[in-house]
Amino acid sequence: MYFAILGKNKELSLKELEYVSPVNLHQSPNQQIVLFDDAEEEKLSDLAGLVKWWKVIEEPLSDFFANNEKKMIWVADKQLWISLKKEHKLKRFKQVDLFHTDIEIKKKWIELIKIWKSRWEVLGYQNIKLYEVIDFEKPGRSMQMGMMPAKLTHTLINIGLSIDKEQTLIYDPFLWSWTTGFIANYFWYDFLGSDLKLTFANKNHPWWIGSKYATPGKELKFFIQDATKPIQEIALFEERTPLIITEWWLWPIIKASTTPEQVKEYQRWVRNVYLPWIEQMASAFPKKPVMVFTIPWYLWYENLLEHQIIETAEKVGFKFSSLQEMYKRDQHKVARKVIILQ
Ligand SMILES: C[S@@+](CC[C@H](N)C(=O)[O-])C[C@H]1O[C@@H](n2cnc3c(N)ncnc32)[C@H](O)[C@@H]1O
Repeated sequence: MYFAILGKNKELSLKELEYVSPVNLHQSPNQQIVLFDDAEEEKLSDLAGLVKWWKVIEEPLSDFFANNEKKMIWVADKQLWISLKKEHKLKRFKQVDLFHTDIEIKKKWIELIKIWKSRWEVLGYQNIKLYEVIDFEKPGRSMQMGMMPAKLTHTLINIGLSIDKEQTLIYDPFLWSWTTGFIANYFWYDFLGSDLKLTFANKNHPWWIGSKYATPGKELKFFIQDATKPIQEIALFEERTPLIITEWWLWPIIKASTTPEQVKEYQRWVRNVYLPWIEQMASAFPKKPVMVFTIPWYLWYENLLEHQIIETAEKVGFKFSSLQEMYKRDQHKVARKVIILQ
């Protein structure tokens, strides 16, 4: 049995969790904690949306401690702390908060908790460092344009992979600064990217290749392409149908002075790229690809994009779904809505 704390975007994290095929999933009333009987355990650490996760300790605690003799034990509640001291004569332990993650603990110690009669061991923590490196250390980036957060990209990839299970190739047709490509490469997928302009792509590609995070030997290519037109470099795909993970601009920034008419105009621009692009993707590959992407969602304005996407997607034979929950940073007036076509 396992339990886990979901990230801030609970619906998104829950959807992503399907990637590890959880069995008998239950959610706490406040929805932040999930409990499940079984899962593909080795894939849990590939998830972006779990903050921390635990597994029940099946063996007697004395055996558990005997096997982990040299490690310091961290416990989340005082009662357990007292009983460890008394019953198991354990000296090397400290108390820690349930929601707390500390780099030092992550690297060296074992963290335990007691809930009801069971003892649980922490199995893993979110890989925040990877997201920070990609978001803040790549040389070509511009926050103004609404850069795709690496953690969100990673969540979208896993959502896509939970539908398109045997997939090994990921394609981002709005590549820009490589966010999707870097995550795909880090997790051992082949990747192809394209964009109208390769300004940031040309800067960031060598940086990634030279970083310690790159996975050598995996395909990592990019080309110039207008997403609304047939793919010129289709030979690069070698007749494979990729999983498509992407986003368009979030830009322009919505200000207090932005009028509803201007917001409509922005949505027309997005629509003029997205609708022809969806049509292209429907027939570009041997099969219909699974596509997971975000669209801008203008808070406090009328949103016209989603239903136009539904219409086009269904016309060309995709099954449409979207998540209710918006992905949004504090203060932002434009959120992202996750769309899934399959
Ligand atoms: C917001 S960026 C994508 C962000 C990217 N996921 C990232 O985090 O780096 C949108 C990209 O779409 C590209 N773009 C705009 N219109 C396009 C079109 N018709 N065909 C291909 N790319 C286009 C822009 O050049 C820009 O690089």
